[in-house]
Amino acid sequence: MSKLITVNYDGKPRYDIVIESDFSKLAESVKKLGIKNRRLAVITDSNVGAIYADEVKKCLEQTENNVFVYTFEAGEKNKNLDTVQNVYEFLIENKFDRKDMLVALGGGVVGDLTGFAAATYLRGVKFIQIPTSLLAQVDSSIGGKTGVDFRAYKNMVGAFHQPELVYMNISALKSLSRRQFNSGLGEILKHGLIKDALYFEWLRDNSDKIAALDVQVLEEMIYRSCEIKRAVVENDPTEKGERALLNFGHTLGHAIEKQKNFELYHGECVVLGMIAALRICVERGMISEEEFSDICSAFRTYDFPVNTDGITVDSVIAASKNDKKMDAGRVKFILLKKIGEAYIDMTVDDDTMRRALETVVTE
Ligand SMILES: NC(=O)c1ccc[n+]([C@@H]2O[C@H](COP(=O)([O-])OP(=O)(O)OC[C@H]3O[C@@H](n4cnc5c(N)ncnc54)[C@H](O)[C@@H]3O)[C@@H](O)[C@H]2O)c1
Repeated sequence: MSKLITVNYDGKPRYDIVIESDFSKLAESVKKLGIKNRRLAVITDSNVGAIYADEVKKCLEQTENNVFVYTFEAGEKNKNLDTVQNVYEFLIENKFDRKDMLVALGGGVVGDLTGFAAATYLRGVKFIQIPTSLLAQVDSSIGGKTGVDFRAYKNMVGAFHQPELVYMNISALKSLSRRQFNSGLGEILKHGLIKDALYFEWLRDNSDKIAALDVQVLEEMIYRSCEIKRAVVENDPTEKGERALLNFGHTLGHAIEKQKNFELYHGECVVLGMIAALRICVERGMISEEEFSDICSAFRTYDFPVNTDGITVDSVIAASKNDKKMDAGRVKFILLKKIGEAYIDMTVDDDTMRRALETVVTE
């Protein structure tokens, strides 16, 4: 059991995504990168580090002598420049030079932050992603978007910096909380809706096995989602066009996330954002009422909330305009022509957004 995907960049093979059910092939995968006698800094957070840092360090020590571990406190609140500075200090104290390498072991917070530290330390060093959350495995570890939050602004400071390798151990998902696991499923359901209607059906039909963490079904799911993400980022590595399709559900989802003060998880907000966007698709005759309620019942199968209260529609609209997903002052919306085919739409006005949001926000 294992799968491999190669991600191309500028038409050439750039890095591999290795999907395994343990860490036993990690040393071999790292060795293939051709590094020798280099220092490796495993950057992780307090939750993931407590469970996996020792095991990963031991695996890396099969081929490398100088493996260091730096741990910061888990949580989005630490995805900031202060933590990046602490990482720089750690690297300087341990004499890391330009040929040494960072290893991100954790969810999207660790991956984004470590990638950014790697992009900027000594004007750029190499790094490896070992994503451990479902969201990181199918989404944030692929494509080279790195960065941190700045003051109240999410992902405001960052860089594109491609990893040398993405190594994922599916069994690591077993220690992830159920709610975090489900949050990652929000992005996975999104992949089906924007790119592959048959995949969306498959996800609906296999919900029991996915919820039971059946490793074979998880492997198939993660592989198919990584393939979708690979194809999109290969076509548009720096988000000038097609990559924006991955933001389906995110324009309003991010705004809801902010208004709810991050009490709902990212994937849960993306699902609410997708429902609102799908309402616009119904209004424009691209999705039928029947398809809409089928999709909502698939979301319910995965325990996603399909509405939320305690916030106002107008505050969500206002927050959506402060988001980066704007183009010349207009909100950039991702809509579906049909299930499995997304496009960028710049014509969604406030009244349309208001009607759509009334489906998911009960004031
Ligand atoms: N770079 C990109 O393209 C991209 C795409 C999507 C999201 N993101 C970013 O990703 C971040 C969200 O990622 P996330 O949902 O993984 O959050 P996260 O990294 O905060 O992980 C969620 C929680 O799960 C814990 N955790 C992770 N793996 C675990 C495991 N195997 N066992 C036990 N606990 C585990 C973490 O410690 C954390 O408490 C956001 O900052 C978002 O901006 C980036």
